[in-house]
Amino acid sequence: MCGIVGYIGDKNSAPILINGLKRLEYRGYDSAGLGIIEEGTPRIVKAKGKVSVLENKVDSDGLHGEVGIGHTRWATHGIPNEINAHPHFSMSGKIMLVHNGIIENYSVLKEFLISKGYEFVSETDTEALVNLIDYYCKEECDLFEAVRKALLKVDGTYGIAVLSKDEPDKIVIAKNGSPLVIGLGEKENYIASDVNAIVEYTKRVIYLEDKEIGYITSNDYLIKTLDNHKLNKEVNEIDMDIDEITKSGYDHFMLKEIMEQPESLRNTMRGRTVLSEGIAKLGGLIGYEERLANSKRIIISACGTSWHAALVGEYLFENYAGIPVEVEYASEFRYRNPIIDKDDTVIFISQSGETADTLAALKEAKRKGALVLGIVNVVGSSIARASDAGVYIHAGPEIGVASTKAFTSQIMVLSLITLLLARMKNMSVVQGQEIIKAIEALPEKVEEILKHNELIKSVSAHFADAKNFLYLGRGIHFPVALEGALKLKEISYIHAEGYPAAEMKHGPIALIDENMPTVFIAPQDAVYEKVLGNIEEVKARDGKVLAIADENDTKIETLADYTLKIPRTHEMLMPILTVIPLQLMAYHIAVMKGLNVDQPRNLAKSVTVE
Ligand code: M6R
Repeated sequence: MCGIVGYIGDKNSAPILINGLKRLEYRGYDSAGLGIIEEGTPRIVKAKGKVSVLENKVDSDGLHGEVGIGHTRWATHGIPNEINAHPHFSMSGKIMLVHNGIIENYSVLKEFLISKGYEFVSETDTEALVNLIDYYCKEECDLFEAVRKALLKVDGTYGIAVLSKDEPDKIVIAKNGSPLVIGLGEKENYIASDVNAIVEYTKRVIYLEDKEIGYITSNDYLIKTLDNHKLNKEVNEIDMDIDEITKSGYDHFMLKEIMEQPESLRNTMRGRTVLSEGIAKLGGLIGYEERLANSKRIIISACGTSWHAALVGEYLFENYAGIPVEVEYASEFRYRNPIIDKDDTVIFISQSGETADTLAALKEAKRKGALVLGIVNVVGSSIARASDAGVYIHAGPEIGVASTKAFTSQIMVLSLITLLLARMKNMSVVQGQEIIKAIEALPEKVEEILKHNELIKSVSAHFADAKNFLYLGRGIHFPVALEGALKLKEISYIHAEGYPAAEMKHGPIALIDENMPTVFIAPQDAVYEKVLGNIEEVKARDGKVLAIADENDTKIETLADYTLKIPRTHEMLMPILTVIPLQLMAYHIAVMKGLNVDQPRNLAKSVTVE
């Protein structure tokens, strides 16, 4: 995790770097720092806490200079404090460095450097790297070469930016396993962990690949492989507006992103269906449809919320396309020598496209010869680029740490892939058309639910003091139960568990009393009556029940303490609707508890470390 940013040009870099760090804060927010060359002198200002704390310090220090690097941290090695915050100086005070990633062999490097007389002040792995660069810079220093030599000795992941007192006209950068992008401007250039940090200054970017190293000056750049071959890389035009990464009047990004779902879903589905033929048309899968449809097995792998979307995908692919599916946590998949053959397709789902476990699992699946597809939000991200083919969800930037609109768009893409496959198999044109009509009508149904935000808020108030929650759902709604519980946990710090409703009797029922609310996801589907039975069982034990139910369901209201209604849609799309009240409930409870909704403790948006 962590976010890095750099600027070189003719303007004061400090406000540009602070602004960039604010946009990267979702990647880590326990401490932050800036390193700037000020009239030939390298200066570092750091602060524990959020970027706003750093900003105040930088303002009062009057830090000023046309070249600088910045960092917002999510601690791995060493507690969050000013000493461990980045940038780190080399012992000589000549070189400073910001780093996103983990130097795995840092203790060996540190021992070597100590034997050469280096002293360390922080507990970080990064300080070993900056001193190793310094070591290679001892005699006639060429910063680029010193960084390159040092990185050849490093095991681990890094996105780095390095500044030297002796070469203040360049920022040296390198990437392995952590994202890094160069932004090209007029008489100024930028580097950042992602384009959000620089999109208001430039839309022309170059994505670095692993084991690439380079530098930027104010009017030039160079990129080489770590083994020193010059590269001519493509310059990409990014299609992103600054409005997409601001709160646009909302109190929190999370609320904005929940409210954006009608639009994000329209963006996900736009141009991807053909009603007359009842089919889905997915440009990113052209040339791969037959191989996908003929897969002996589909494995879907992801982490967190994206893993919950994968569980919905399992249900859809098996039920409608008749293809066996397995869902795997990417973190497990990568280490357990999975049996995969060339007739398998492995789909990786990731909002950020940078999750370290998912990326590593993808590489493992590729190594074993499977067709590897990505369902990704961030265009140009590592997972998108490493996949053989895939489908972007086009949900737009998701900044709130709790994933919301990405989840519903992931399910939309999984539904479109299901339609594509099912129509290649047994689904009739009429059934295909029914699904397309339901897809087209969905954004308005989402709008309907969002109109009840105040009602959802008032219902949430009844549960804000609960210490534990149970979320129950069956079939396609079990993943929604998991997702509802995760949303509540991560931003409200309330313990919540998701279970298949029928499993309640096998253990969790022991927890139920008047203090333990249960949320039932209970639309009128094939197992509706059975879910009503489960509600009775909770009520019989004095449990409080909140039901997410169909708009016409009057029966459930007589059983549940509170009911939130949702419009009906095709069964395939129901999770997109049932999850929305749960997102809003988690949001409102967190706000009522006075918590930081967009930046919950201990978390970061993009988990780029193991
Ligand atoms: O970017 P990814 O979809 O790969 O991220 C996966 C998880 O880290 C992510 O979904 C996480 O669980 C969110 N905080 C959930 O809200």
